Amino acid sequence: MKLLVVLSLLVVAAHGSIGNKQRKFPPDFIFGTATASYQIEGAWNEDGKGENIWDYMTHTNPTVIRDSSNGDIAADSYHNYKRDVEMMRELGLDAYRFSLSWARILPNGLDNEINPAGIEFYNNYINEMLKYNIEPMITLYHWDLPQKLQELGGLANPFFTQWFEAYARVVFENFGDRVKLFITFNEPREICYQGYGGDTKAPILNSTAIGTYLCAKNLVVAHAKAYHLYNKEFKPTQKGQCGITISVNWFEALTDSAEDLLAAEIKRQGEWGLYAHPIFSTEGGFPKEFSERVAEKSAQQGYSFSRLPDFTEEEKAFVRGSSDFFGVNHYTARLVSATEYKDAFPVPSHPDDIGVGLYAPEDWATSASVWLALAPNSIYNALNHLKEKYNNPVFYITENGWSSSPDSGLIDDDRVTYYRASMESLLDCLDDGINLKGYMAWSLMDNFEWMQGYQERFGLYHVDFEDPARTRTPRKSAFVYKHIIKHRFVDY
Ligand code: NOJ
Repeated sequence: MKLLVVLSLLVVAAHGSIGNKQRKFPPDFIFGTATASYQIEGAWNEDGKGENIWDYMTHTNPTVIRDSSNGDIAADSYHNYKRDVEMMRELGLDAYRFSLSWARILPNGLDNEINPAGIEFYNNYINEMLKYNIEPMITLYHWDLPQKLQELGGLANPFFTQWFEAYARVVFENFGDRVKLFITFNEPREICYQGYGGDTKAPILNSTAIGTYLCAKNLVVAHAKAYHLYNKEFKPTQKGQCGITISVNWFEALTDSAEDLLAAEIKRQGEWGLYAHPIFSTEGGFPKEFSERVAEKSAQQGYSFSRLPDFTEEEKAFVRGSSDFFGVNHYTARLVSATEYKDAFPVPSHPDDIGVGLYAPEDWATSASVWLALAPNSIYNALNHLKEKYNNPVFYITENGWSSSPDSGLIDDDRVTYYRASMESLLDCLDDGINLKGYMAWSLMDNFEWMQGYQERFGLYHVDFEDPARTRTPRKSAFVYKHIIKHRFVDY
């Protein structure tokens, strides 16, 4: 307790010493935090929950996880949800973004069998938030596909679009009376490129060149189906919004040479344009330069077709405009070079990229995650680019955060520095007329960081994973964030 008081005082003291130029966040700007079901819930086989692809992978192939751990218990939010909501209140959050475990609601993935205990759990969670005026923001899919559906090909099966639509209906029917912000998918690139094309996320399909784009097309169409379902059947009475979250790290050309500029544009299109362009651009479909490049490379590789599937004109029209907002997960940036190779991105660069150079200059601070460096004003750079490209849609930053090592303790000055820089960048966005409505910090608490297990911690709250009670303790960054939310300026 003493420590908490000292931390709190430190935060206030810091405020006093800073100059008086204060830009403010508007009162209706939404501040929140984000989490995801598999990363926090635990209770992997309790009360009728079905198996998902992370349960399956970590149980059958534990060594793919850095510390051979899994999310069987994680932060045990299934049993600690009231404490989670208490933490949200301690921080003074306006909103909380969390995801639903599809297999907790539909154990086999399909809607002919609904698990009442799963519905009840999320009802309790949502109602507890609403009691304290915390707005729930639900992600329908944050990577934990029911294993039964994976056995049928998962997102590579075109019928995935139907399965997802059926699941979305169950979600809207059960929670849409109280939940007004829905996100269909979290980070399509990571789902498709890392899980289907590569082997750095479940289901580690490692299909290299083919799986990524089958998944991409089905995911985008599935998103649009859920959006139209909501729009037509639920929005008129429920009056909420439905969007998608895409990971948009910032990629900028190292030099102004034509080669570097093209390499950076191809990188952006391959990273996020693939998912954003069909939904947010006026012409629809996959981005042009990238499509041409994949078609060309496919021919060189001896395929008689492009590895990137086409949309029909009907599909293009169906997908175009199918989002009420653009959710952006943003963490970092890289400079892109067509010729120079310096500091590689730890995930191998995309097989259809041009060039090899992706690097973070040495003076960017680094976190416990090799890919995560503090890049100057990168939220602004990314959003400004998206604003120009897609005609300034409504944006939410749905994730942004910093990792530390498990033993780094509660005084997380590097995380505080990162969040302060992010806040300045958000204010630059608002000053420039970017249509940004809210910000969710990743994460409310330490959790299972996918392939890194519990070795990288993103929490505003520390979680003791040795302790059966999974005790949560606020870090210094939690106090800083709390003050920013309360006073609506950055100088804390
Ligand atoms: C984005 C993902 O959505 C989230 O699940 C993950 O933990 C963070 N990035 C940090 O890597």
